[in-house]
Amino acid sequence: MNLNEKIRKLKEEKDVVILGHYYVDADVQEIADFVGDSYALAKKAAEVDQQNILFAGVSFMGESAKLLNPDKHVYMVDNTAGCAMADMITASEVKRVRAQYPEAAVVCYVNSSAEVKAESDVCVTSSNAVRVVEHMKQKQIYFVPDSHLAHFVAKALPEKEFIYHNGYCPIHQQIDKASLEKAKEKYPDALVLSHPECADDILALSDYIGSTADIIRFSKEDTTKEYIIATETGVFYQLEKENPEKKFYPVTNCQVCPDMKKVSLEKIAGVLENLEKQQEILLDEKIMEQAKRPLEQMLELAK
Ligand code: 13P
Ligand code: SF4
Repeated sequence: MNLNEKIRKLKEEKDVVILGHYYVDADVQEIADFVGDSYALAKKAAEVDQQNILFAGVSFMGESAKLLNPDKHVYMVDNTAGCAMADMITASEVKRVRAQYPEAAVVCYVNSSAEVKAESDVCVTSSNAVRVVEHMKQKQIYFVPDSHLAHFVAKALPEKEFIYHNGYCPIHQQIDKASLEKAKEKYPDALVLSHPECADDILALSDYIGSTADIIRFSKEDTTKEYIIATETGVFYQLEKENPEKKFYPVTNCQVCPDMKKVSLEKIAGVLENLEKQQEILLDEKIMEQAKRPLEQMLELAK
């Protein structure tokens, strides 16, 4: 029995659904029952029938699945796969700024810990941030942790007043303007598709800005034949699979999230084999109760 067959068999036997993000390796995306962006994964996690969820992604994604399914078991393929941006904000910093701006709504990007979510009013993902913030009744918005996504939303909603945190994704931050200009020169007919975690100067040179799922959707609906992609290169698997006749180019050779790449087929098989003995996501009851609200509020407002 090969590794893929073994995973499929264990998954059935142990009542497990595998949810995966577009940034994990192609062979993992292929074996996952559902692949999506952070928003689609959160929605899917709230709908699955299986008793066990195995998350092929990073910790904030698994935690969100647990918050939306407190009665289910949620396991990470690799417990050490985190998100550098999520680590840039703490619950005590959110409390401190909230006390300073009591009128502000606290909006947390889903790339944050359960503790930070517990201190927030609403959660957003890159695909629904504008829509959700637009629906907030407060004029003042304290947005954590991503300053680039916050500026992107602020530009779309000039009627709101933003208080920024200084977080960023180190992977998207490395995508630089000089490299993008060079890529545009090399591929003059290509459109630039970017994730809103990129810096302002990259977004200013982009033809389309959206979440991973939005970028994939755009490439399918658009008639252009070539694209320069400013996000993690895991998306290339779906982009090329959905559009075999089109060409996709990265801006730099450093668009790789090392935490997403910790997920592998071997580790999936290992976790499934010893499911009972694996360390699953376990969160403090009170934090769970509080952190669930902003996520549910997001699912409601993003409808
Ligand atoms: P998406 O919301 O597009 O899935 O992005 C998640 C992420 O971590 C981007 O770096
Ligand atoms: Fe976090 Fe950036 Fe990796 Fe996304 S790409 S999971 S934001 S470190």
